[in-house]
Amino acid sequence: MTAKIIDGKAIAAQVRMRVKERARELFERSGKKTRLAVVMAGDNPASEIYVRNKIKACEEAGIESQSFRLSADASEQKIIELVDKLDSDNLTHGILVQLPLPTGINERRVLERISPRKDVDGFHAVNAGNLMLGNDCLAACTPQGCIELIRSTGINIEGKNAVVVGRSNIVGKPMAMLLLQNNATVTIAHSKTENLASITSRADILVAAVGKKEFITGDMIKPGAVVIDVGMNRHDGKLYGDVKFDEASRVAAFITPVPGGVGPMTIAMLLENTVTAAENA
Ligand code: GUN
Repeated sequence: MTAKIIDGKAIAAQVRMRVKERARELFERSGKKTRLAVVMAGDNPASEIYVRNKIKACEEAGIESQSFRLSADASEQKIIELVDKLDSDNLTHGILVQLPLPTGINERRVLERISPRKDVDGFHAVNAGNLMLGNDCLAACTPQGCIELIRSTGINIEGKNAVVVGRSNIVGKPMAMLLLQNNATVTIAHSKTENLASITSRADILVAAVGKKEFITGDMIKPGAVVIDVGMNRHDGKLYGDVKFDEASRVAAFITPVPGGVGPMTIAMLLENTVTAAENA
């Protein structure tokens, strides 16, 4: 079998069109211009690229963006003061604090200062909790993007065995919750799971989010599976997924490439959360 490639760029472009239309309608209806504030501290090169891409994507979707740069030695207090200021600004609908923050800053304390209704990353404990309860909320962007990619294959998620490899607060845990909401039978595995291959090889839907280059090999995949690779592992200037693509694509029915799979979806879903936040404001 040769897997069909899930084109994240094309699917993200559709989401961005849909968002642009919603932002335009909101403006026509209420005069409200959707606005995202992006806060970055320090000079992490990967974060620089992510933030630049997010700002550019906002522009293209007709969303206003403001970016705030703080130095690497900015105190936690200073970051929190900025977040508080943006939080009380009625013209700002979404606030994104780019992670990681410099060492010594308590990320959790900073993230919890963002009002849940402006938390377009879906990282606030209230949003994470509401996601678990199945309530309406701003859910984490990357897992939402993965759901869109799975749906694009036309397979019905309901009743399928879904295995998520990785248990981070940003991807693994919310991913499992969204799959559960879609009535999949969900297993969360991780780097310490014993006999991992015996679990992944039962997955109709496999989401790899462990952050280890080419960790999932072809023999760990069920023939005909949908494989979603969240990995972004840089090695010798090249980007690698968590899945060994060549091997996996000979076994799976559908697979996302790295780059060009999940990556573009994260930004698209951020835009969608931002327009949702503006509509709700
Ligand atoms: N750092 C890496 N990915 C993300 C993300 O999705 N959101 C934020 N805020 N920081 C990140």
